[in-house]
Amino acid sequence: MKVFTTRESLKKFIQPYREKNLSLGFVPTMGALHEGHLSLIAASLKENAYTIVSIFVNPTQFDNPADLEKYPRTLEKDVQLLQKLSSDIVIFAPAASDFYQGKIVAKTFDFGTIANQMEGRFRKGHFDGVGTVVSLLFETVQPTTAYFGEKDFQQLQIIRKLVKILKLPVKIIGCPIAREPHGLARSSRNELLSYSDRKEAAFIYKTLQKAKKLFGIKSANEVRDWVKDEFKKNVKLSLEYFEIAQEDSLLPVIRKNKNKSYRAFIAVQCGAVRLIDNIALKH
Ligand code: PAJ
Repeated sequence: MKVFTTRESLKKFIQPYREKNLSLGFVPTMGALHEGHLSLIAASLKENAYTIVSIFVNPTQFDNPADLEKYPRTLEKDVQLLQKLSSDIVIFAPAASDFYQGKIVAKTFDFGTIANQMEGRFRKGHFDGVGTVVSLLFETVQPTTAYFGEKDFQQLQIIRKLVKILKLPVKIIGCPIAREPHGLARSSRNELLSYSDRKEAAFIYKTLQKAKKLFGIKSANEVRDWVKDEFKKNVKLSLEYFEIAQEDSLLPVIRKNKNKSYRAFIAVQCGAVRLIDNIALKH
């Protein structure tokens, strides 16, 4: 298994593949790999000659130093897991100092309205950090296709916008959310939950499913109020936001429009662990 730790060495390795016009799939991650990541990697392996997986806990997208500090890092285990999966995988696991060449700062982007809602509102500078790292990763890897999860649906829309702004020749594929058997969306952060908190957190997806049903018969405001009340009754989980938004603009829905697609988005604090999830709504 090839593991590159510097941008220059990866670029050199990739050059001949680019020259031969082989398709390169790319799956950017922050490691602590789980079934969600693996579903993206499986999609890439199916559709490309080679798959590059990056494992890099990107400091510029964290607004909270404690959150960055405790983010799970399991590089050795991740490499072993990918080794077993396929010999067509190449890993890129740089150190922050090499990756940013000494200047660990985010650039600013004009992503428009999609960056100001939900995650953008509650995690200041988050999407500038994501835009910065993903644009540098794209420049290094030069993938034909890159795979992102709908688990971070707002991030997926940000990446689509980034590719448009920078006019990059990369196709972006969105992949469905992988869940634990009781419904909790898989996340590296689930590792930080105790066994009982992990069971409790299944409440998030259960509430999203009920909200989806309610959205068929109630207004968006009524659904929002219902979700808020449900979380008031739950002592272990505290609701940061619940929003019903249009899939393309991510603007909150005011009045339902039959021609639009909507999604419900949620962020919840379970003890010290922040969890996000979303669900597609049929009107
Ligand atoms: P990370 O949280 O490691 O996620 C890497 C990719 O896996 C993202 O595209 C994310 O949406 C996807 N993913 C995570 N959990 C998933 C699940 N349960 N089902 C399907 N896909 C899932 O997202 C990031 O890292 C970073 O912001 C990154 C894009 C790597 C930039 O630093």
